[in-house]
Amino acid sequence: MSPLELSTDDVAANESDDVAAADFVVVANRLPVDKEVLADGTVRWKRSPGGLVTALEPILRSRTGAWVGWSGVPDSHDNPRIKGLQLVSVPLSADEIRDYYEGFSNATLWPLYHDVLVKPEYHREWWNAYVDVNRRFAEAASAVASQGALVWIQDYQLQLVPKMLRMLRPDLRIGFFLHIPFPPVELFMQLPWRTEIVEGLLGADLIGFHLPGGAQNFLYLARRLAGQATSKGSVGVRSKFGVVQVGFRHVRVGAFPISIDSSALDAAARSRTIRARADEIRRELGNPRIIMLGVDRLDYTKGIDVRLRALQELLLEGRIEPSDLAMIQLATPSRDRVQSYIQMRADIEQLVGNINGRFSQVGHQVVHYMHRPVDRDELIAFFVAADVMLVTALRDGMNLVAKEYVACRGDLGGALVLSEFTGAAAELRSAYQANPYDLDRVKDAIEEAITQDKEEGRRRMRSMRRQVLAHDVARWAASFLDVLASTQDEVTASANRRVDLVEDAPIGGDD
Ligand code: ADP
Ligand code: F6P
Repeated sequence: MSPLELSTDDVAANESDDVAAADFVVVANRLPVDKEVLADGTVRWKRSPGGLVTALEPILRSRTGAWVGWSGVPDSHDNPRIKGLQLVSVPLSADEIRDYYEGFSNATLWPLYHDVLVKPEYHREWWNAYVDVNRRFAEAASAVASQGALVWIQDYQLQLVPKMLRMLRPDLRIGFFLHIPFPPVELFMQLPWRTEIVEGLLGADLIGFHLPGGAQNFLYLARRLAGQATSKGSVGVRSKFGVVQVGFRHVRVGAFPISIDSSALDAAARSRTIRARADEIRRELGNPRIIMLGVDRLDYTKGIDVRLRALQELLLEGRIEPSDLAMIQLATPSRDRVQSYIQMRADIEQLVGNINGRFSQVGHQVVHYMHRPVDRDELIAFFVAADVMLVTALRDGMNLVAKEYVACRGDLGGALVLSEFTGAAAELRSAYQANPYDLDRVKDAIEEAITQDKEEGRRRMRSMRRQVLAHDVARWAASFLDVLASTQDEVTASANRRVDLVEDAPIGGDD
């Protein structure tokens, strides 16, 4: 097991319901482990999907604290235990999963915040469920947080929790981080409950986004929406240089680009067993000249179809020989009861079938598609084996996969094709970047990556690695938590001091 693998072997149901008060509390829609009930009734806990867990799990391991979240199945009251981590489960009913999780979170907010790639649906009953479930998360956090504790609320599913929690527990220091893009103002304004969301977030002392653009969009909206006089009275919001004044409180707003546990991945990728497994993968694929890799949750934002279309055209045009190539697409199942995900999965599987039908030979398949999560060591071996990593998201808050690939290439081999519309593109400037809506440019970028000169490839990889190794997840968390910890003092110190978080956002370059 790699150091990054969540030791789910150690997960057990807690025999007692006792919850000890914690000084540090993470609140996220999901617990870091997902409950699975097997056909014979046995319960298994596995790692939860997504980048949020990848980023936060090492942070929680390095500090003692509690993690409040949902176990991934209906009506589960188990508080599983993982060594060194206190997990507090928020049970959701089947109706709440449908309306709060699949509905408002993933069929309203997710598409709205990702450039309206599919049409967001606005339903009042989904909103009502979102309010109710956010309240239960706030109550659970309030019950576990010690006096004056630091509470860190995560992501778009819980945007009302900061205000709800502040009303229950004004003694707490509250941070909020959004793991997905914050949308342009014109799109956010579609949301019938836009004012409630902005006011919900303004319950925090510090609100973090991946990029300065998201922070700026939010600052504008805070002025425009939360400051409006309403029938319930005005909250009197003024914003200045990354600080929003809400009555007598100051809310800081900033950009904190998330990252990964880079050195742990770097070390794991250098291990003899992983390297041997990478060689074995190449042999199992028939020693092709080029191995391409895609690693994603099966989500329409990831542009899996974009890379498959680009590949199909490159093969059709004879720019890549089918016998030279093996492409592996790992796709973790995700939100598979939401209609847009059902449709997208069918489209992608059809594309894979078309490419293989046209170009594969007996004994040589062109696209290897695996619709399941793979374990961490196996994933690292895939990263080490891949000559070209394809990240072609149409929109992505950060995209940790791009950073993981770079962290795994201590040999300075490989090449990264990276969509301009990922948060990672701001930091990984030496990747072969492409606009994913411009298929010709995506094809060119893939061709440049395949045919790159070895020295040029090493130079690019070295430059990206400098960025990823220096800006790791520990640094991300420390930068957020340090600002959060200082907020109380700031409030009392000076009402007018300029705090320029947005302009000074820690966006890194390649050098
Ligand atoms: P998101 O949070 O939208 O899923 P990220 O790229 O930021 O996207 O994070 C995804 C995380 O999930 C990464 O840590 C990645 O390694 C992991 N992951 C994605 N697909 C798989 C898979 N098929 N098997 C195992 N892990 C995966
Ligand atoms: O950061 C994106 C994110 O949506 C997380 O909030 C979430 O935990 C993860 O991806 C996986 O999605 P889901 O929890 O819907 O399976």
